[in-house]
Amino acid sequence: MTGPAVRLPPEARAFGERLRTARHVAVLTGAGVSAESGIPTFREALTGLWARYRPEDLATPAAFARHPEIVWQWYAWRREIVQRASPNPGHRALARLERLVPRFTLVTQNVDGLHQRAGSARVYELHGNLLRTRCSQEGVVVPRWVEGPVPPRCPRCGAPLRPDVVWFGEVLPADALEAAWAAAAACDVFLSVGTSNLVEPAASIPWIAASQGAAVLIVNTTPEGQRCGPTVQVLVGRAGELLPALVAAAWPETGTAD
Ligand code: OAD
Repeated sequence: MTGPAVRLPPEARAFGERLRTARHVAVLTGAGVSAESGIPTFREALTGLWARYRPEDLATPAAFARHPEIVWQWYAWRREIVQRASPNPGHRALARLERLVPRFTLVTQNVDGLHQRAGSARVYELHGNLLRTRCSQEGVVVPRWVEGPVPPRCPRCGAPLRPDVVWFGEVLPADALEAAWAAAAACDVFLSVGTSNLVEPAASIPWIAASQGAAVLIVNTTPEGQRCGPTVQVLVGRAGELLPALVAAAWPETGTAD
């Protein structure tokens, strides 16, 4: 069931044309693309996770070393929210876009796996995925474990298990980061969707694209503070409405079905 088609401002319709003729589209998403799926973002004033919790208490290796059970339970709570959530039309529009352009690279800071559930075939997860769990000592992903202690223990070595996400101060997965840098350097169209663009190294990715002349479009409900540039456009609004409208503007034959 699709809602009323969103009318795009003229400059955004022109960006739709850019999409249609693009050689290589690269996309960076943040928590805002999952907000309409009911997953809290991080920095929104009242509802953001960092408005209610201190990242240094929950999303650092030191926090896990200090109180592993609290960190484990906080991610278990976030995992339940994610498992109850469904992809929204913004996720599905990006999955359609992947099939419509000659070359497409989707990079996400999100750990919710909703792009994959929406049908995106190749997703580079810069910050991991909280639906995966790994041994805190061996680093291997542990597909299942015996419930008991909190956090559960690794069935191989007995160490505490942890979510397979990147915490502050940890290195990002090299393959995802290198793919993101290469796509930003090579693409001719770049979309930055639903991110406050504050956390490095992800925050520099859109500017690598802009610096090599790619047409950059920022889709955000409150884009204040986003660095802009001569090839950067800003489209203010919700990803779940604007992304399907952009794809429909570029490929009218596909309609706005999401
Ligand atoms: P933030 O919460 O920092 O930013 C979310 C952005 O999405 C904000 O700019 C909102 O204005 C925007 N937004 C909210 N709802 C939207 C919607 N429906 N459509 C479009 N935009 C919307 O989340 P991120 O930028 O993803 O990393 O945060 C980046 C990283 O900081 C996360 O991956 C996480 C966090 O700490 C780690 O924890 C390592």
